[in-house]
Amino acid sequence: MASNPQPKSSFHMSPEEFRQHGHEVVDWIADYFNRIESYPVLSQVKPGTIRASLPEEAPTKPESFEAILADVEKLIVPGITHWQSPNFFGYFPCNASGPAILGDLLSSGFGLQGMLWATSPACTELETHVLDWLVNAMGLPQKFHSSSTGGGVIQDTASSANFCAVLAARERATNLESNGKGVREKLVAYTSTQAHSSIEKAIKMAGIGNENLRLIEVGDAFAMRSEALAAAIAKDKDAGLVPFLVCGTMGTTSSNAMDPLRQIGAICREHDLWFHVDAAMSGTAALCPEFRQLQGGLEYADSYCFDPHKWMFTNFDCDCFYVADRKLLIQTLSVLPEYLKNKATESGAVIDYRDWHVQLGRRFRALKLWFVLRYYGVEGLQFHVREHVRLAQQFAEWIRDDERFELVVPPPLNLVCFRLKGGDELNQQLMDALNRSGDLFLTQTRLSERLTLRMSIGQTNTEERHVERAWKRIQEEASRLLN
Ligand SMILES: Cc1ncc(COP(=O)(O)O)c(C=O)c1O
Repeated sequence: MASNPQPKSSFHMSPEEFRQHGHEVVDWIADYFNRIESYPVLSQVKPGTIRASLPEEAPTKPESFEAILADVEKLIVPGITHWQSPNFFGYFPCNASGPAILGDLLSSGFGLQGMLWATSPACTELETHVLDWLVNAMGLPQKFHSSSTGGGVIQDTASSANFCAVLAARERATNLESNGKGVREKLVAYTSTQAHSSIEKAIKMAGIGNENLRLIEVGDAFAMRSEALAAAIAKDKDAGLVPFLVCGTMGTTSSNAMDPLRQIGAICREHDLWFHVDAAMSGTAALCPEFRQLQGGLEYADSYCFDPHKWMFTNFDCDCFYVADRKLLIQTLSVLPEYLKNKATESGAVIDYRDWHVQLGRRFRALKLWFVLRYYGVEGLQFHVREHVRLAQQFAEWIRDDERFELVVPPPLNLVCFRLKGGDELNQQLMDALNRSGDLFLTQTRLSERLTLRMSIGQTNTEERHVERAWKRIQEEASRLLN
């Protein structure tokens, strides 16, 4: 009589199985990169298609790894918009690169949780060190360096960094009393009409109320008008309100506009307001000395952020957030329950990054950034940043030379805003036709009340041939529409 099979003692993947399947996954990703240009850049599926292809319930029995990976190809890939395609020109990029992916994999392998220095000293110390490297490599003010009063921390996104800046600014303006008593003062914040929506979200979340966020008008190049800022502050003060924060942008989302940071900074200093600079996309440009004039005025800033996950070839998520006064940030966010107390924290000799952002737990994100910086070297990163800017400037020339098109604003770096002469409807049709074709992917914005197409050139692997082909396709579709 056959005996009953022994119950399994473990369902886990053994290290040997992990090695085998890990190689399969790395092979899969390498093959994916090799064939990425054969996919339509924008996923072409209809809403609900992916869910309809998945089983109603979770599997009760274990499945083979082979079956799971096969379903990635069959069920998941059709629903992917290929952000890593060199023909991706939408939004701002969200770049991956080999070293970043491998650094991230290693971070998953350690599976550590770096909330405190004590829970993995390397997680904290590498982060501090790499963020200090960037202060020097990007010519940021030394006050953001950990050897001074400030320092940097990796946040998940610029949205979170912007939120922390608003919270710290609120506490400074209210002598650290809002944390205890709630916001009693009539606080008012300022940013431009072109600032990212995460600023408004931060103002709402911080209990300031978005009616107390003034959206300052912009000039011809969509940059904040500093005289309008000064006037708004004066008006609010006269009305008995308490201005506390200005957020400037180095590279707005819609058009890459550069706010006049120096003038804004001087106004902040005059009125003792917190000055935060959001450089989510364009901060990376400062790796190249020739672009650093765009961040002139940062010496006035109390806080600053940029996203290596956009243009520094470091997988999502990775935002670098710097403050000039780390003590204030920590006072704003720190709560110390008994279960987190430890000798290292008590010694005062270590950084506990849990006090530098919203969440407690944290991944080892510095590893991927460290891999990127070492693998490319600053020179390698500069090379690719310069190349993207060169390609964008070239694309802008092509737009200028084709009289059917207009350049909406001269591109400061690598985002080109353009439109086909004619109405919004025509431009929408042009963009839809291009995106439907799958050959490239573009997104739109609205500038001076008109629908405007954005050509964002910054994907890790975008080369001249991709930009040339994109322009050819744009011209072809334009000819078809205008005939
Ligand atoms: C200027 C600016 N700030 C903030 C953000 C938000 O970025 P994140 O997704 O990192 O929150 C963006 C996104 O494009 C941006 O362009």
